Amino acid sequence: MPMKKTLLSGVKPTGRPHIGNYFGAMKQWLDMQSQYDCYFMIADYHGLNFIQNGVEMKDQILNLTLDYLAIGLDPEKSVIFKQSDISAHTELTWIFDTITTMPYLMRAHAFKDAEAKNKEISVGAFNYPMLMAADILLYDADVVPVGQDQKQHIEYARDTAQKFNNIFGDTFKLPEPLIMKEVAVVPGIDGQKMSKSYNNTIPLFASTVEIEKAVMSIVTDSSGEKPKNVYEIHKLFRPEKELELLYEENKGKYKILKEILIADIEAFVKPMREKRHALMQDISSVEKVLGEGGRKAQARANAKLEEAKRKIGVSF
Ligand code: ADP
Ligand code: TRP
Repeated sequence: MPMKKTLLSGVKPTGRPHIGNYFGAMKQWLDMQSQYDCYFMIADYHGLNFIQNGVEMKDQILNLTLDYLAIGLDPEKSVIFKQSDISAHTELTWIFDTITTMPYLMRAHAFKDAEAKNKEISVGAFNYPMLMAADILLYDADVVPVGQDQKQHIEYARDTAQKFNNIFGDTFKLPEPLIMKEVAVVPGIDGQKMSKSYNNTIPLFASTVEIEKAVMSIVTDSSGEKPKNVYEIHKLFRPEKELELLYEENKGKYKILKEILIADIEAFVKPMREKRHALMQDISSVEKVLGEGGRKAQARANAKLEEAKRKIGVSF
């Protein structure tokens, strides 16, 4: 039997996941869980650039682990772990730092955005692409399913692998991003990209009341008969053929269309919300998942780090 290819992805524990995260990234993880050797990471050291409060960090990590399990990531099939448990990630980041130039990192979108806003960013945030390259390259990941906004980071990982290989000899595999075109950017309730930072999300585990409130505040464009922002979100929950008919029958009736969308989101979210609630009753099992995942990830990452250390001449 051919060896399975490796998939690695992760999310920062910096807030409740929303339907943009789900349809843009997490859903693909579920679909691929059986075909790939999967590593799903809680990117807590990336999150440390944003969350600098120990109590909150712990809470966010456990919450994101619950989210992973509730959407259907299965610790029997996949390795679910947190980045900070594997010190090889930060160690390999250092090695990459020494072969990376400042101007190259200054071309990163996130850095340029911060500069444009005259924001002083931390060294950690500046170096974000190198930690992410280490995350990916330590596992010889073949594919990295993410949303469109992460594409540049995968390119950084590829470039860094290539650079290391050129200097020290073939060591790292070049990863491929996997970006689903039709949901590459899920719009938020204001029509901009849905994002935690824009306050325009529909949380994935939203309560019924939260779903109602979010959908009712979707900005509708009164110039056309089809409310674009409502439709674009609705598309995620119903086949377009059905939706076309529905929107045709209810032309201009925004309130009715929003009510249908609320019912559709509720039907989709309810089972996951219930599963999450059940898992929450036994947090020690959730911690155990991270412990076991950490051990498995560590074995693989350490072997790769050792190979890199031999290539650079510090390990013999
Ligand atoms: P946010 O922008 O809300 O902070 P993150 O940066 O934590 O989201 O993104 C986590 C994952 O979800 C990434 O793979 C990202 O590409 C994907 N993602 C985030 N927002 C969207 C969106 N609106 N549409 C599609 N994918 C998204
Ligand atoms: N940077 C990603 C985000 O903001 C999270 C992340 C960290 C990641 N390391 C990764 C995603 C490795 C894929 C692979 O969403």
